[in-house]
Amino acid sequence: MEIKGLVAVITGGASGIGESVAKDMAKAGAKVVIGDLAQEAIDRVVGEIKAAGGQAAGVVANVTSEADMAKLMDTAVEQFGAINVVVANAGVIKDGVMINTDKDTGKVRKVMSVEDFKFVVDVNLVGAFLTFREGARRMVDNNWPGVLIVVSSINKTGQVGQINYSSTKVAVALWPKILAGEFLMKGITNIRVLSISPGYVATPILMGMDQNALSAITKDVHIQRLVKPEEISSAIIYGVENDAIDATDIEVTGGLCYSRSRAK
Ligand SMILES: NC(=O)c1ccc[n+]([C@@H]2O[C@H](COP(=O)([O-])OP(=O)(O)OC[C@H]3O[C@@H](n4cnc5c(N)ncnc54)[C@H](O)[C@@H]3O)[C@@H](O)[C@H]2O)c1
Repeated sequence: MEIKGLVAVITGGASGIGESVAKDMAKAGAKVVIGDLAQEAIDRVVGEIKAAGGQAAGVVANVTSEADMAKLMDTAVEQFGAINVVVANAGVIKDGVMINTDKDTGKVRKVMSVEDFKFVVDVNLVGAFLTFREGARRMVDNNWPGVLIVVSSINKTGQVGQINYSSTKVAVALWPKILAGEFLMKGITNIRVLSISPGYVATPILMGMDQNALSAITKDVHIQRLVKPEEISSAIIYGVENDAIDATDIEVTGGLCYSRSRAK
């Protein structure tokens, strides 16, 4: 599909990867609608896109809310008349081991709380589901062609200290196969489904990670640096443009090898 003229909805579009996707898609001629948690951050990104000559709108919308996701999609339709690309990008981390022991006694000192587990599941998994569902139902009902894209992570392969996060990211990476199959079964052949699995990308979310663990991981990256947000958005744009890329996951990691930093 040609990007120019498409309407793209991006959750978590006011920071990091989502911001880069919104700006780069707008630069390529898409009309973008971003949903995020804070009005000020949304206004900044929408303002910067407009100042650069692009078309954009934004809504305060929490991906864990059915009503907010419906509002986000309705805003896209009201403002720009369609929905073609849905990027379920909003995500959070709350890292920690499930069982933490005392160095001296070896006894359990702390466990991961159910709140910390569910917080990540609610945003990354339930939120992405609602984003896809509320976008797709409008696309199907109006016969708007396009692509659903969910942002997974290379840690879908299972990272220590991320039992909550990795569980959500492996789950969403299954969606391209599940949904392309469901759509085919229902005769919906004009909506493709993709997931993108970034490696470690230089965005604010990484500030929440253990910085020693992060520098150990960078040693395992073939290109020896963090991936840039715009390298993720260019992969997303490529996925939208190429009609034969469907029902699959695209890894953009800089060659993350995990030889040193993964539990064996
Ligand atoms: N940065 C990385 O290294 C990396 C690697 C792999 C995958 N990812 C994934 O990429 C996506 C974007 O991450 P990022 O690095 O740009 O992070 P980020 O923290 O810079 O941006 C995430 C955005 O999502 C928004 N958000 C959080 N909870 C939300 C909610 N409930 N509703 C709506 N918006 C919400 C935040 O406000 C923020 O603007 C996430 O799904 C993340 O898991 C990131």
